[in-house]
Amino acid sequence: MGTIDEKIHELVEKRKKARLRSDEAVEKQHKAGKLTVFERLEKLLDENSFIELGRFVQHRATEFGMEKRKMYGDGVLTGLGNIEGRKVAVYLQDFTFMGGSVGEMHASKIASLIRLATKLGIPVIGINDSGGARIQEGVDSLKGYGDIFYNNVQASGVVPQITAIMGPCAGGAVYSPALADFIIMTRKSFMFITGPRVVKAAIGEEVSFEELGGAEIHATKSGVAHFIAEDEDSVFILIKKLLSYLPSNNLSDPPFIDTGDDPNRYIESLNSFMPDDPIKPYDVRDVINVVFDTDTFLEVHSHYAKNAVVGFARLNGYVVGVVANQPLHLAGSLDIDSSDKISRFVRFCDAFNIPIITFVDVPGFLPGTMQEHGGVIRHGAKIIYAYSESTVPKITVILRKAYGGAYIAMGSKHLGADIVYAWPTAEIAVMGPEGAIRIIYKRELAKSDNPEEMVKSFVEEYRSRVATPYLSASRGYIDDIIIPSETRVVLVRTLMFLMSKRERPPRPPRKHGLPPV
Ligand code: HXC
Repeated sequence: MGTIDEKIHELVEKRKKARLRSDEAVEKQHKAGKLTVFERLEKLLDENSFIELGRFVQHRATEFGMEKRKMYGDGVLTGLGNIEGRKVAVYLQDFTFMGGSVGEMHASKIASLIRLATKLGIPVIGINDSGGARIQEGVDSLKGYGDIFYNNVQASGVVPQITAIMGPCAGGAVYSPALADFIIMTRKSFMFITGPRVVKAAIGEEVSFEELGGAEIHATKSGVAHFIAEDEDSVFILIKKLLSYLPSNNLSDPPFIDTGDDPNRYIESLNSFMPDDPIKPYDVRDVINVVFDTDTFLEVHSHYAKNAVVGFARLNGYVVGVVANQPLHLAGSLDIDSSDKISRFVRFCDAFNIPIITFVDVPGFLPGTMQEHGGVIRHGAKIIYAYSESTVPKITVILRKAYGGAYIAMGSKHLGADIVYAWPTAEIAVMGPEGAIRIIYKRELAKSDNPEEMVKSFVEEYRSRVATPYLSASRGYIDDIIIPSETRVVLVRTLMFLMSKRERPPRPPRKHGLPPV
């Protein structure tokens, strides 16, 4: 019993306790270059917007003295809040309680939050900082992870899921972030299935935490991380920026922002942009940055598979997904990693009503045993699958090379692009001129006194007669050939028409397709 005043007092005391962390724990967290959950929450959410859920949750484990190690919240802060006015669901793992380890109840808080966010149609933002499965809780902890993964999958394509890794993320714990749409890693974080000690014991390899699963490795080599954040503040800035391009759910449109950039802006510099020499590289981001609204391009996966560029931008204020080949790296050819990068991005845009604009300059798929044995056939097919199944507005601009299967894969008309444009510098054919000439004139070249001269003259002829964009345009595979300076104006006008696109093709009923994953 007790008076109402006493009950309120008790509640206030319990609330205080829920927020209490020992000085030692806080100091340890700070010493590791990390903020506490409360400090992180303050930087992430709009002031006074947090509604905490599961504040008094506690674990019910008893083994290994666990009945004496309890804390309100069980090592994870979960709830609803606003980020720059947008409603979001957030969870933040608290390393100061048992290393943020995931027990049954900790997991259940995260899983129910994701379930709630899916029903509410709001993005899920997760801040991971955890030693993984709570060892003392055994299989209950694994069950908890299973629940999180299951709900990640149910939420996939319904609400955006963004995960920041701001500490350890090891073992099976990596799979919740991996099931999310975007991973941001701080320089202090790491992700791996098995740590350096197990690696050494299992295969004798010596490797540091950083080399095995640091931010740099995952952003450049594995492609697991989409963004690197230099420090914790950068994580929160990035989450806010990323959210500004995303709708809250699959039934909403991405947020429109009046950027003030002139939709009728001609870009004269583009008329002299393309090098005369067709094998000379250039940075396709120089095209992207001038065509889209000023300073709106947010590159995703910028350190990974650099032979392709993907990211979000605004065109006349509307969010678009940009996909491009990057001639600066591997001549812009497609390979295993760029296929994964492009197909994943295209599928994300399609799921969340983001029109796709593709810039093509691709000499083909990268040759060699590394690629073939690594399954470039299977991976390359993902791009074809992604474009073919997508129904959002799609505009493609062929800047220069568009050869072979890569031409088809890169958002061609044949895979459902709504409108395709080409610059007059476009070259579209089954294969590059030289290779083609050496095959079709094999006999003539063998007999020639000066085969190289002969190749040169045939190449010119091939370029002007076969690879010319006018041939594709005559078939209707290209809707128009545009002057480069017109690119922005044409794209804006076209996008404004395509915004009302409704594509509900009568596809054969099926449970789901089978993308070549
Ligand atoms: C229980 C854990 C824990 C865990 C850390 N702690 N990880 N408690 N289960 N998984 C506790 C520590 O005992 C310690 O408790 C406190 O958290 C802080 O940890 P420290 O080791 O002091 O911190 P630090 O030196 O920063 O090292 C962090 C760490 C290390 C690298 C994460 O704690 C570590 O290696 N932990 C184990 C990681 C691991 O192997 N996890 C299981 C992965 S397999 P006290 O009482 O001292 O404060 C997995 C399977 C998931 O997760 C499968 C899902 C499908």
